[in-house]
Order: sequence, then structure tokens, then C-alpha cells
Amino acid sequence: MSVVALVPAAGRGVRLGAGIPKALVPVNGESLLLRAVRGLLAAGCVQHVVVAAPADQVEVVAAELVELPSAHVVVGGAERTDSVRRALDAVEQVAPDARVVLVHDAARAFTPASVIRDVVSAVERGAPAVIPVLPVTDTIKQVDEAGDVVSTVDRSQLRAVQTPQGFAIDVLRAAYAAAGEVATDDAGLVERIGGKVHTVDGHPRALKITTAFDLAIAESVLAAPRDYAGDASRSWSGVPRDAGDNE
Ligand code: CTP
Ligand code: MG
Repeated sequence: MSVVALVPAAGRGVRLGAGIPKALVPVNGESLLLRAVRGLLAAGCVQHVVVAAPADQVEVVAAELVELPSAHVVVGGAERTDSVRRALDAVEQVAPDARVVLVHDAARAFTPASVIRDVVSAVERGAPAVIPVLPVTDTIKQVDEAGDVVSTVDRSQLRAVQTPQGFAIDVLRAAYAAAGEVATDDAGLVERIGGKVHTVDGHPRALKITTAFDLAIAESVLAAPRDYAGDASRSWSGVPRDAGDNE
């Protein structure tokens, strides 16, 4: 039984504005897509990857991943949901023995291996759906159309959601079969069919590269060689995991 990851990478990257699809944008010489797919395979618990590419970039994307024979490329769709659906449809051919499926944005190219492993192991322990989350740190206000504050939302029970999201494959297939054309996040589709969604700790490094500012953070912090190698020894709060460490 294997674990397969679906990587929606067919977006245009309008908010980033690089003039090429966001997944192909390089960060210090390597594309977001290559970093994301390599990261999934390097976590040690993912055997196959199915990438959804922009329809006019399938060959470019395949060439980008040529060093990773476990990565397969399909044509993506107009919305993220369509791209995930097409990648999910390809799993039967690519990884017929897959029982666990991850859905992971190419734009979250710096997700630590520990997050990927935590999601997979929670699904393997029996959770039908698992998402990595972070506490919300900003104060959250509800506002009206005029921009006036209606209320201050209690953020203690709110979480910001990242990827990879993990699923028992039958659960994701059932969720997509019921989804129709409705576009929401993948775990949201499981919620809609009454499935339980479990959370594990996410990580700031799993941020989605959306804007030029995010890309600047990626170039200056996330892809810096020192930080890249040093991440595993620290929790995301910056506190060393092992108090006995002499760091
Ligand atoms: N995605 C996809 N197919 C689409 C739209 C998005 O596979 N039709 C993917 C993107 O490539 C990205 C992920 O879904 O890896 C998250 O989407 P987002 O961050 O919104 O990326 P883009 O849609 O490319 O960016 P923008 O919305 O700014 O155009
Ligand atoms: Mg988008």
C-alpha cells in the first residue's frame, strides 16, 4: 500500500505577477514546483506524485521534474478543484495500491518534512481527513460593507489551514464525487459529506507563496542554505526541540 501526493500546479499566479505560471517561478535557481515535489518525496513516506500542470505547459512541467521518476504530470483545470479532481482521477493508473492521498499546493514549496510525515501518520492511524493548521495570531474583526467594525471575533478557536491535507483515498474520492462544481478546500469537501477532519500542527515554513512579498521572504529566508538545513532541529516557535541541545 502506498501514499500518493496530488500537487495542483496549474494556476496562473496572477497575484504574484511573474508573467509565468507560479509553480515554474524559480527561487534561488529552483522552481517552486521542483522544490515542492522533491520535498514530498524526500519526506520518506510518499511514493508517488501526480502534478496538475497548466494545459499549455505540460511538457515544460514534465521537463522540470525529469529527475524525479516517481512524479507524473496531468493536465490541470480551470479551478484548483478541477486540477485536484484530474490528478485524483489519474491515481488509479499511477498508484493503484494507494490508500492514503495527500493534496499539496505547489505554492507551499518549503513545507518541512515533519509536517508531511505528521499528516501521513495521522491518516495511517485511522483519521479519514487531516489538515495542518496554525493558530491565528492577528486580532480578527468582523466588518460591514462600509468598513465599520461589527464585532471582535474570538480567535482562540480559529486556525489558519495549510497543506498537505491528507485523506483516506476512498474518503477523498467520495468527497469529490459529491462535490459537483462547488469549489472549496479539499477538507471542506469532506466536511460537506459529514466526514470528520482532524488537525495537526502546521509550520510557518509551509506558507503559500502568493505575492511578490512572499517570494521575497522565500528568497531571503526559506531558501537560504543555512536555514534550510537547520530547520529540523527546531520547533516552529524557534525553541530548540531538545532542551539538551547545545545550540
Ligand atoms: N491551482 C491549480 N489549478 C488552478 C488554480 C490553482 O492547480 N486552476 C494551484 C496553483 O498552481 C497553486 C495552488 O493551486 O499551487 C494554490 O492556488 P493559488 O495559490 O491561488 O495559485 P494561483 O491560482 O496560481 O495564483 P493566483 O490565484 O494568484 O492566480
Ligand atoms: Mg488561485
